[in-house]
Amino acid sequence: MLCSKKEFDERIGSILITAEEIKEKIKKAGEYISREYEGKPLLLLSILNGSFVFAADLCREVTIPCEIGFMRVSSYLNGTSSSGDVNIIMDVSQDISGYHVVIAEDIIDTGRTLSVITEKLRRRNPLSLKVVTLLDKPERREVDFKADISLFTIPDLFVAGYGLDCAEYYRNLPYIAVCNV
Ligand code: IMP
Ligand code: MG
Repeated sequence: MLCSKKEFDERIGSILITAEEIKEKIKKAGEYISREYEGKPLLLLSILNGSFVFAADLCREVTIPCEIGFMRVSSYLNGTSSSGDVNIIMDVSQDISGYHVVIAEDIIDTGRTLSVITEKLRRRNPLSLKVVTLLDKPERREVDFKADISLFTIPDLFVAGYGLDCAEYYRNLPYIAVCNV
């Protein structure tokens, strides 16, 4: 559905994290992954749709051989709150039992999506499984879940940009901004 430019501008608020801040943290995360997984079969697994920008930038900071995988999950009951029912809509094509898997996620909110996904993936016996998230909203946690690497901890605000959407818009913003919802 077409959104007017006025509506588009009104719904987005102040910048919370700049493109430069994101770039700097991703560079460090890429260096860490490159050191940690040197000589190991590595699969960087992007959880679609939200992590497509993050995963694209993160994989370009990884300097060791690495495969990229994609998985699409549905977790939303309505616009802004997560349902406990997490379904795999598109599964990763690789047999993950042959890889050290690093999940790239956009944001951990209630924690439901990743706790279900990591449990499902662990049953497939990956060589190891770690989670790197761009954003973390610990105040909103409903299930106990902690990422192995979290680039930014943010307060309880609905944000958009850099892959994250608000009603499917703003994924193309190069920074993270607060959404007026
Ligand atoms: P969880 O299952 O509640 O942890 O939700 C994780 C998913 O909810 C993320 O992968 C996002 O797609 C979405 N999400 C949670 N908070 C936000 C937000 O502030 N902006 C955009 N998407 C969000
Ligand atoms: Mg997501």
